[in-house]
Amino acid sequence: MTDLGERTLDWAGGRLRIVDQTRLPDTYEILEIDNVADLVDAIRRLAVRGAPAIGVAGGFGVVLAAQEHGAGAEQFAAAVESVRGARPTAVNLARMVDRVAARATEGPDALLEEALAVRDEEIAASRAMGRRGAALVEELVSEADSVTALTICNTGGLAAVERGTALGVIRTIHEQGRLALAIATETRPLLQGARLTAWELERMGAPYRVIVDAAGPALLSRGMADVVLTGADRVAANGDVANKIGTFSLALAARYAAIPFVVVAPESTVDMETPSGDAIHIEDRGADEVVNVRGTPITPEGTGALNPAFDVTPAELITAIVTDSRVVRLDRDETLRSVSPEP
Ligand code: MRU
Repeated sequence: MTDLGERTLDWAGGRLRIVDQTRLPDTYEILEIDNVADLVDAIRRLAVRGAPAIGVAGGFGVVLAAQEHGAGAEQFAAAVESVRGARPTAVNLARMVDRVAARATEGPDALLEEALAVRDEEIAASRAMGRRGAALVEELVSEADSVTALTICNTGGLAAVERGTALGVIRTIHEQGRLALAIATETRPLLQGARLTAWELERMGAPYRVIVDAAGPALLSRGMADVVLTGADRVAANGDVANKIGTFSLALAARYAAIPFVVVAPESTVDMETPSGDAIHIEDRGADEVVNVRGTPITPEGTGALNPAFDVTPAELITAIVTDSRVVRLDRDETLRSVSPEP
């Protein structure tokens, strides 16, 4: 079995290669994707997931569409559209598909060049967020050499090619020798925290504990974490943030406990065309994921369920948004419009 090294998805030999996130932590398996239908399926069933990662995968999806149908044909446009719409909440997917597809008239080499540029930019962005985020935590947390950080879902290399967003910051703090503990919420229904974040923390040799989702607010209220670090699927122009379901309750609890709540996301997740969180399409993933845990039913047969995959945390509950090129201190009345990205 081949390994992608530090990366969790990549392009080689005309194929997209991804670590199958549905199989972790039990099995590390690389999926080789050479057609659009398989990519759409992989995105929908979360074999590849996390906002930056699906943006990068979507960019390569345009290359696959051109390989299958030739850039510019009607079927090409339909294939591109199917990738673009595979999941609705993270802005990265539609944005990166549009960015790569915009070069279709220049031919297939240009498409690949653009998709590779998207990949490389996300890798660079993760490194920059790690540095900026760790510096901000040092400023916000009084015992900065002994940080306990609580996080939700998976925002590591799996979600962003390498290193990641919020988990990338935790990794940087760990590399600086300042991480006392990472606390990962299990993140029902699909357990991205318990399966994926724990897997990444284990691989990086960081101290960590997994908690059930309902324990997050309680631990925060008892002062058992110094900071909450989360990713984002879309940051609206007013600073509202859509992220994994459960993020909002952590933000409420962090405010109650007077603990900083920091969102870490690349500029590719900031969507100035979406005015506020109300306008963000929240994906509903249907009952199956709620009434089953890893294939085992947990409710009486026929039980219905609600399954919003994301929630919106209002800007007023967020201490700061850290991107690859700026830190916006919402707690100091800064906004995404008042603080420009550094070049
Ligand atoms: O449904 P998922 O697992 O794709 O949800 C992912 C998240 O909510 C992440 O926090 C977000 O995409 C940021 S990933 C760096």
